[in-house]
Amino acid sequence: MSAPSQHYSVPVYATRSRVWTGVFLAICLGILSACDTPQSILNPASSGAASITQLWWVMFWGTAVIMLITIGVALYAVFRPAHHRIPVSPLTVLVVGGLIWPGLVLSALFMYSVPRGHSLLTLPTAQEVLEVHVTGHQWWWEISYPDVEGSPVYTANELHIPAGRPVDIYVRGADVIHSFWIPSLGGKIDALPSSTNVIRLNPDETGEFRGQCAEFCGAQHARMALHVTAHTESDFNRQLQRLTRGPAVEDQDIRTPGQEAFESECARCHSVDPREPGSGAPNLATVADRQWLGAGTMENGEGAMLDWLKHHQLYKPGNHMPSHDQLDDETLQSIITFLEDIR
Ligand code: CUA
Repeated sequence: MSAPSQHYSVPVYATRSRVWTGVFLAICLGILSACDTPQSILNPASSGAASITQLWWVMFWGTAVIMLITIGVALYAVFRPAHHRIPVSPLTVLVVGGLIWPGLVLSALFMYSVPRGHSLLTLPTAQEVLEVHVTGHQWWWEISYPDVEGSPVYTANELHIPAGRPVDIYVRGADVIHSFWIPSLGGKIDALPSSTNVIRLNPDETGEFRGQCAEFCGAQHARMALHVTAHTESDFNRQLQRLTRGPAVEDQDIRTPGQEAFESECARCHSVDPREPGSGAPNLATVADRQWLGAGTMENGEGAMLDWLKHHQLYKPGNHMPSHDQLDDETLQSIITFLEDIR
């Protein structure tokens, strides 16, 4: 009677092991696919990020070798017959395994890693350096650039920089501690309310990159993305001109219903003048041109802004913008039209 169960047990095991191998390979593929995304330290687009990637690989292969040696020693201890073992005193294990070996490994790593960080420092350079101020708020990023005269121009959540020259980012936190991190362009740096930290980005190619707040800062920490575009110098200058342009409707005598609604409902916190930071809320001068709404919460596009204004507390619960339940669709749409017209 045991024959049938024996007969069936082999394929069941074989199927199981095949399933687990499949799952393992799928996980490996999933992990590998993350290497090539716009938010990966393994996909560097600047000299600073490239040196971090290099350090990462050195640590990866170094730990792999050390782990293999450790497993080898453990297997040796378990499987070597007792009479063939070479006795080692506990003191030797402690001194060699606990002091000398880690001391050598960590010293070598230290000496290798310190020069890697140099390209992230704001060292003197012959190139013209662009200074950008980035302030972390719960849960969005305020960005300010100097215009041609050096006065600040404000925008939010989408950072435009030139490729091919250094960009120094002056990072602060407005309320709690955030952390500025664009993995493809450089290291991580804390955004502190108490002081300003500076990090240098050296994008050496144009492209789009994704950054993310990297310090838990409250309920919507995960929806605090920063999208970065590195432009050619001429495209960057065009972008800056676009950002520094004042609201297009300011000179008009007739105020649209949308402008009136914006002034009574939104203007207490939001500014549409790129020269004014606004009061604790993103500057909306160019919001209609942005690719994302709610600091990366949803993509901007046909109907997206109305959806966001109606349901933002659903998409990003606890965000500091009050709900607009008291406003009908027509009023909200008029505000959107106003925001589209001023860019
Ligand atoms: Cu801001 Cu996490």
